[in-house]
Amino acid sequence: MEHSMALILAAGEGTRMKSRKAKVLHEICGMSLLEWVHHSVKKAGIKKTVVVVGHKAEEVKEKMGDQVGYAFQKEQLGTGHAVMQAQDHINNNEGHILVLCGDTPLISSETISEAVNFHKTYNNSATIITAEFQEPEGYGRIVRDESGAVKKIVEHKDAKDDEKNIKEINSGMYCFNAKDLKTALAGLSNNNSQGEYYLTDTIEILLNGGKNVGAYKVGDNKEVLGINDRVQLAYASGIIKNKILENIMRNGATIIDPTSTYIDWGAKVGADTVIYPSTFIRGKTQIGENCTIGPGTTIEDCKIACGARIINSVVCKSIVDENTNIGPFAYIRPGSHIGREVKIGDFVEIKKSKIGDGTKISHLTYVGDAEIGKNVNLGCGVVVVNYDGQKKNKTVVGDNSFVGCNVNLISPVEVGDNAYVAAGSTITDSVPENSLAIARERQIIKADWVTKRGTPKKGK
Ligand code: UD1
Ligand code: CA
Repeated sequence: MEHSMALILAAGEGTRMKSRKAKVLHEICGMSLLEWVHHSVKKAGIKKTVVVVGHKAEEVKEKMGDQVGYAFQKEQLGTGHAVMQAQDHINNNEGHILVLCGDTPLISSETISEAVNFHKTYNNSATIITAEFQEPEGYGRIVRDESGAVKKIVEHKDAKDDEKNIKEINSGMYCFNAKDLKTALAGLSNNNSQGEYYLTDTIEILLNGGKNVGAYKVGDNKEVLGINDRVQLAYASGIIKNKILENIMRNGATIIDPTSTYIDWGAKVGADTVIYPSTFIRGKTQIGENCTIGPGTTIEDCKIACGARIINSVVCKSIVDENTNIGPFAYIRPGSHIGREVKIGDFVEIKKSKIGDGTKISHLTYVGDAEIGKNVNLGCGVVVVNYDGQKKNKTVVGDNSFVGCNVNLISPVEVGDNAYVAAGSTITDSVPENSLAIARERQIIKADWVTKRGTPKKGK
């Protein structure tokens, strides 16, 4: 869509959210409300977006960065006033200006494209995106004449009784011809019940100037739902979440219980993967084919290869290679890379470590800042003592080594390839390859100790 730009109004306070956070930064499935709107704008092929910020402007700008331009509205004097603040960003030869609201995350790219096409086809100066609601309470109403042509928009608070019966409402989203929009803005006044500059008044101004105005009615009125409080936020979340899950299921993954499965919008799940209940897949996670994920699992920003099985575990910002088993009850922390056909069992925590192919860490183990080779066995209760109270140190265990149960590896330390560490050892010095290290007190036997002590009397 050449020569069009989008203007997203996001200066309002959003008091009903009862939040310290800017309303448009509340999130649905990993993306803020404002980003959802911008996402649809980009998908519709519109490259330039300007956001009108006001309340919590710095916070909004920090989140959106330089992917959009900004206009600042110091005081919220109405939607028309908000658009006036962005006038410097609008060139007369801009073509079409799409005006959207930062709190309507369900608007689709298809509707945006269709509205713009409609606008062009009828050679309109303004096209209002409208919808029909059985209970239109609160919305501006679309007033049409006998022939059905749009006459004006009247705000709920300014509407007469017969106008309040109108079911067709203004979504607050429009497509304008750039030059005509600027002309109309110059004619706005704040002579109304709210003392605001209403963007909606541009419609009458344009019609009075002999321009074409049309209304593009959306098929699915949910698309224009605005988020004003947390109940609406939850409702919209449900709609978006279901769309994401449906898309993943249509691409060949099984979701056992969609009601208890949460997947962020950017995540990918391969065919024949089965996702069990109470599972959260967050961020830009990519899961391959034929995996088993869950129940009760959280995976965030990970790359999980085909055939992996992750049960009742938390895996963050890490890579897991093919056919590896994780869990139940494992915690893989950021910066880890778990190789192929690895087994990470119950109550194992791995932090910022590399685990080689075929290695087994089956139970009750902590591995931090370590590089564990291939086909290693870390026995039950191995602890990598990576922190000396001041800094984190590195541990290396070579390929094919065997570290017995309840061993402490005091970092920095290295265990060579094919080495053995005896159970219960506290290893402070490097273990050369092919050797056995035993670092614990020798066992002593005190023969007949019990008999010599005599039998203690009960209760004494
Ligand atoms: C507006 C429309 C109404 C429509 C409704 C749809 C006007 C006068 N009315 O009403 O016809 O049915 O949206 O939801 O336009 N904003 C600013 N600066 C301001 C005022 C608002 O940036 O000074 C932003 C808000 O942050 C919000 C959007 O504009 O994103 C809509 O503002 P809001 O106050 O919710 O408008 P409504 O009164 O609901
Ligand atoms: Ca509103």
